[in-house]
Amino acid sequence: MELSSIIDLDLYPITDSGFLRSCHDTLTRDGALVMQNFLHSGAVDAIRREGEDFRDQAYFCRQEHTVYLSPPSDEFPTDHPRNRLVVSSKGCITDDVVPADSPLRALYNNDVFQNFLCTVLDEQALYPYADPLSSINLHYADPGQELGWHFDNSSFAITLMIQEPAQGGGFEYVNAMRDADKGEMNFDGVEQVLDGEVPVKKLNMNAGALVLFRGRNAIHRVAPVEGERTRMLVVLAYNSQPAISLDETARMTFYGRLN
Ligand SMILES: [Fe+2]
Repeated sequence: MELSSIIDLDLYPITDSGFLRSCHDTLTRDGALVMQNFLHSGAVDAIRREGEDFRDQAYFCRQEHTVYLSPPSDEFPTDHPRNRLVVSSKGCITDDVVPADSPLRALYNNDVFQNFLCTVLDEQALYPYADPLSSINLHYADPGQELGWHFDNSSFAITLMIQEPAQGGGFEYVNAMRDADKGEMNFDGVEQVLDGEVPVKKLNMNAGALVLFRGRNAIHRVAPVEGERTRMLVVLAYNSQPAISLDETARMTFYGRLN
């Protein structure tokens, strides 16, 4: 499958050095880069149909977790921002369920697309996950489902919006909430976010949008989906090193299986 049949290369000339630099600078400055209408509508439609066709193979789970995604610590009270629990509830189909002829697979494996990502993300190279589940995931959020406030463990996320919900389901974030590398957790700031006392930014993403986001120090969430339409979002997951598998605890939690 040709890259030009999947993404709009007229709108987004991803091999043009000036364009690459502007994407890189936007992501570095804002911690987020949204490219609306990145996918051709035909590709969005094909991926949405795959999402509908394979939905019966999705694993749905609901977790309570801390903002820091680490288990609660008994050094802090339960109502402390270090330990406060938020809810994430969603489902997804895994890489092994995504069909071999999916535009998602052609895009994920495409050298030109990977080179674009490397340049914009400041990565030397990107590798697929070694396990059969984690590389391409299509996520479903039904009405009432959400992703609670959290920081990511990974330094970047690559997502494609496939179907927006009728209402709700917005991606909200606050930049530079902590400095993970320096061990700064910013409990006061996190508490204000959890209590709704801080203005949050919203990322507007339409079906077909590519979104790059740096979520290690930016706290973020997906608000509860409202209305009848399921939110569908693809996560393209890569590693900066070869032969890495997602750890078994995470696979059991998110996929309900290891293989
Ligand atoms: Fe996240």
